[in-house]
Amino acid sequence: MAAAGTGKPRILVTRKMMPEVERRISAEFHATLNPDDRQMGRDEILAEAGHHDGLLLTSFDKLGPEFIPALPPSIRIIATHSVGYDHLSIPQAEAKGVAVTNTPDVLTDATADVALLLILGAARGASWGDRMVRENRWGETTLLTPMGHDVSGQRLGILGMGRIGQAVARRGRAFGMTIHYFSRKPVAVEDALGAIYHPRLEELLPNCDFLSINCASTPETRGMVNAQALALLPKGAIVVNTARGDIVDDGALIAALSSGRLAAAGLDVFKGEPNIDPRYRALDNIFMLPHIGSATPGTRNAMGHKCIDNLLQFFRGERPTDLLTRT
Ligand code: DGY
Repeated sequence: MAAAGTGKPRILVTRKMMPEVERRISAEFHATLNPDDRQMGRDEILAEAGHHDGLLLTSFDKLGPEFIPALPPSIRIIATHSVGYDHLSIPQAEAKGVAVTNTPDVLTDATADVALLLILGAARGASWGDRMVRENRWGETTLLTPMGHDVSGQRLGILGMGRIGQAVARRGRAFGMTIHYFSRKPVAVEDALGAIYHPRLEELLPNCDFLSINCASTPETRGMVNAQALALLPKGAIVVNTARGDIVDDGALIAALSSGRLAAAGLDVFKGEPNIDPRYRALDNIFMLPHIGSATPGTRNAMGHKCIDNLLQFFRGERPTDLLTRT
């Protein structure tokens, strides 16, 4: 139902968005914004939802499996400001008759750029080097320390050859890397750009000097990079993750980094973030970022506009471009 007197759908926006996105949301909808950018809890969102027709959520909103069943009947659509939608259950939304949309495509390049940053940062000891300069310890460097790992010409394995995986592969090729990948099925020849397909993760792993995790977090992929998987990587391999933290078994990764079996890791995403496993902080051979894959003004604007476009299409009675639910 539209807001009284405005004829516009009522949208609850749970986090502060880019200024131009907020201006457009306020022009197109009867919008409730979050100017203080306070993280709203599940109960607060549910209580507010009763006064709205749609929700514009983010992947910061950790809502849990009770959220969608508890939504009030006024909510007809959830637009998530993320390509990943593991924080929302699509089957629950379908059962409840709530449409869900996400923001694919517009963050592919920004996220793939961060994957390369992680590859380079982990391989060349960027965190360590940054600390040496800041702490005025440059004088401790010698011809033998620090010693990084080559990236150019190495084998890059990609777990999940979707849009972002393919963009990482293109960047890897620019570094002269040989690309291997595992996906549920091989991608079209023109998208694979010569990458070598492995039908099983176990076949991909021994071919990875670097493993880039780019698959979605699903019941099938959660915990997939576990102790057995890590043991199949060559000794001295490097693991980077720009997808979701729960694809990795933290204990197994920390053990492999501590023992030196893996040379390094680069992580932009963590299980339970921002409350990460504290053991990561004690490791020197790790390059960590606070989930910044899509964090550029152009990308965050494009994501916000995509959410608005999807909401407008829905309330006009059209099929939203990025509809995830079957309606
Ligand atoms: C996404 O869009 O899924 C990014 O990881 C940001 O949450």
